Amino acid sequence: PLVSMTEMLNKAKEGKYAVGQFNLNNLEFTQAILQAAEEEKSPVILGVSEGAARYMGGFKTVVKMVEALMEDYGTTVPVAIHLDHGSSFEACAKAIHAGFTSVMIDASHDPFEENIATTSKVVELAHFHGVSVEAELGTVGGQEDDVSGDIIYADPKECEEMVKRTGIDCLAPALGSVHGPYKGEPNLGFKEMEEIGNATGVPLVLHGGTGIPTADIQRAISLGTAKINVNTENQIASAKAVREVLAANPEMYDPRKYLGPARETIKETVIGKMREFGSSNKA
Ligand code: G3H
Ligand code: ZN
Repeated sequence: PLVSMTEMLNKAKEGKYAVGQFNLNNLEFTQAILQAAEEEKSPVILGVSEGAARYMGGFKTVVKMVEALMEDYGTTVPVAIHLDHGSSFEACAKAIHAGFTSVMIDASHDPFEENIATTSKVVELAHFHGVSVEAELGTVGGQEDDVSGDIIYADPKECEEMVKRTGIDCLAPALGSVHGPYKGEPNLGFKEMEEIGNATGVPLVLHGGTGIPTADIQRAISLGTAKINVNTENQIASAKAVREVLAANPEMYDPRKYLGPARETIKETVIGKMREFGSSNKA
């Protein structure tokens, strides 16, 4: 069923595992992720950036596509459709009214008081509709759609204040992670993560899940991280599959013949992440 993230993340925090957010880019990504979740009996979060939603047609297209696939596939595991890095109250409102079950308001680039004000407004609307809210403090490094910046670590005091004043359901404190591939090893702020996890009590979110070593993933989960976002790794895997199939078959033109293998490799990648995050058999 389509659900918000609230229950799945609280259960994950409690049970010391993390639910993966896997980003949608097209139909094949959506199919692959839903198939992986069902096979693994894992809860799953479908992440949709504003750019990806635009690419697919819009928020409504995404919701209808996911609902229809879940019906055709007979999906039984909990699934959330989540706006990833929502850039404004208006974008979140649009997603909520289109049927998203969860939104992230990313006002992390604004001054603290503005971030609080925008996030509070989103929480009020979202909770009225039974929709969960994720917010961000600090800056995730690297580039993703319109979101880019240098790494800035979240301040634990601000995190505590934000959760208290806004009523968000989960928090993404930027602590050294990066969107896209890492240049070298990531340097995650585990000390701050522990402090923030304890001070806020809410499930924490780790952005930039691509390329984080398993030991760091496990440590993050032990410190209260209950949601991990992955996009680039699936994109790299699917692009590689398409390249290989087309290189080996220069006469091929039926998209089903090269996107089918891409879909298969995304599914395998997602299954690997679900096992790594410990969410398999938790649905
Ligand atoms: O919000 C989405 C993620 O943070 C994705 O990060 O592309 O590095 O896996 P990634
Ligand atoms: Zn992100």
